Amino acid sequence: MCGIIGYIGEENAVYFLLKGLKNLEYRGYDSAGIAVLSDVIKWKKVAGRVEELCSRVNPREMSGRIGIAHTRWATHGAVTERNAHPHFDCTFSIAVVHNGIIENHRHLKEILREKGHKFSSDTDSEVIAHLIEDALLLNRDFVSACMHAFSSLEGSFAAIVMKEGEHKIVGVRKDSPLVIGVSARGIFLASDIPSFLEWTNRVIYLHNYDMVVVDADPAPDACGDVRNVRDMCDVRDVNNHCGASHCGALSALTEKHASIRIYNLNEGLVQRPVDSVEVDIEQAKKGEFRHFMLKEITEQADTIKKAIQQDEETVKNVIDAIKNAFGIFFIGCGSSYHACLAGSYLFSRIAKTHVNAVLASEFENYEHFLTDKTLVFAVSQSGETADVLDAVRVARDRGSRVISIVNMMGCSLTRESDECLLMNAGPEICVLSTKTYTSQVTLMAMLAYALAGNYDDFVSEVKRLYLDIYNLTSRTMRERLCEVAKMLADKEHIYLIGRGLQYATALEAALKIKEVSYIHAEAFAGGELKHGPLALIDKGTPCIVFVSKDNASKIISNAEEVRARGGYIIGISSVNYDFDCWIKVPDSDMLNPVVQIIPVQILAYQLALLRGLDPDKPRNLAKSVTVT
Ligand code: F6R
Repeated sequence: MCGIIGYIGEENAVYFLLKGLKNLEYRGYDSAGIAVLSDVIKWKKVAGRVEELCSRVNPREMSGRIGIAHTRWATHGAVTERNAHPHFDCTFSIAVVHNGIIENHRHLKEILREKGHKFSSDTDSEVIAHLIEDALLLNRDFVSACMHAFSSLEGSFAAIVMKEGEHKIVGVRKDSPLVIGVSARGIFLASDIPSFLEWTNRVIYLHNYDMVVVDADPAPDACGDVRNVRDMCDVRDVNNHCGASHCGALSALTEKHASIRIYNLNEGLVQRPVDSVEVDIEQAKKGEFRHFMLKEITEQADTIKKAIQQDEETVKNVIDAIKNAFGIFFIGCGSSYHACLAGSYLFSRIAKTHVNAVLASEFENYEHFLTDKTLVFAVSQSGETADVLDAVRVARDRGSRVISIVNMMGCSLTRESDECLLMNAGPEICVLSTKTYTSQVTLMAMLAYALAGNYDDFVSEVKRLYLDIYNLTSRTMRERLCEVAKMLADKEHIYLIGRGLQYATALEAALKIKEVSYIHAEAFAGGELKHGPLALIDKGTPCIVFVSKDNASKIISNAEEVRARGGYIIGISSVNYDFDCWIKVPDSDMLNPVVQIIPVQILAYQLALLRGLDPDKPRNLAKSVTVT
């Protein structure tokens, strides 16, 4: 989804903003733009990639210490340069970048048009600049005009604005992510941490309705309500200490430093702590790999071990919550939902505990079953998925308890949860979920085993799996899967079947193939074939079959039904049941969903390469899906 970044500091903003946009590319986008403020605002936009934007920005013509930039994933208005951000007021002296959806934009536009405002784009975002312009006409200063404008917005928004003549940027968030990065080289506002991680790991997480003012010219008496950046960077400068008993901040601000004030639109001035994120910057780089997707696939031997490194007290609380719950739901979207489905089978098989796996976007249909005894597990890599956040709010409104499983600490979901388990997978940059999917499944298996009192056996099993996963992601395996991919690259359809845990794997595998190779891939529960899908099978139709030792006979019969109609059977299993093509994987019993998905992740990657596609950035998709 859209990515936004703002910078204010000592150096040319253009460098930080363009690099920041590159770091945000993984979120998915279709156009990009940048605006920089010196005496006037200068901007460039493209309906295309960030590289194109970079090539069109001449740093000699465009420089300044304050700036904002954006990658757009179109929701309102076509993918055109005119609709790319930043957007402006009528005089082009206020610039805004926005992520989210302004639900009342039509109404606001009507009012503004009646007042004579002229709009230059088809977007909902542009209203923000005009609202601020309008508020300024009422003799408000820039900050209160922003506050006024933001208060009239409905929907979800993270926005950053700047104005000619004002040495500051102002940001706001509601239901869309916005974090502050505090570095000695400047202050960043951005949709997520990887955008500025190479310059700082010190972050301030904003809450809903928080508005932040980052000021390059702080008032000299700013003590108390101004949080000095140097203070937060732990740069000690005793000469500048305020000395007032109520204030630990530095007050005499030199021109070298910006200040940060955070207001909550409902509560007034607020304090938010500065956190350190423990993410190794190397993890967010490709290293020797051509693509993040392959890098992240090969990391899985490590990431599943890290998934079970959980705080004992938290796990105990979660297990107690499960035991005391009446009605348990696992909710998620896309791959995270597939992990929920696998989790529901794992809970049933291992812990004999009933769990409902529900798509987060469908969850509201179950609201009448929610009480204060219900326990909802919200599973989300990003922790920013709007459908998941909406579902969680439905649950909370009914008094249900929420436990989240996320990969990004500090994300919106953690703030809406009673308890949180971290996947510990490190940044996942490729738009496709790979390592975080297996981490989610592993975590759920861990909870099921802990519930059944077999936690220690499970830990040994995961340790044993390390070597298996290492082998599954080895060069030999990749080459073997490249050969399989060559057979499939020109196919129009690929079908996948499994039963039980393998059905969840088939769904996830189909998603991997379709989203990265654009080949139509569809999964069925093996038993369902004869109820309709068999009609699709023709001579040579490829069908991938996931087989576990414990349910082999039934799914092999289903595979035979496909073969009898001309289908070409590719088996993923520990034993060769006379498949047309066999991909050997060790049988890992309850952890089969982890090992069996890996060959298909690699296969999907190879298919993308053979079809000339960029596996890290599939068309039309976004990493953080912040709209419903
Ligand atoms: C698939 C994929 C998506 C996400 C889905 C949920 O490869 O990445 O289907 O799984 O958008 O995202 P999170 O887990 O961030 O809520």
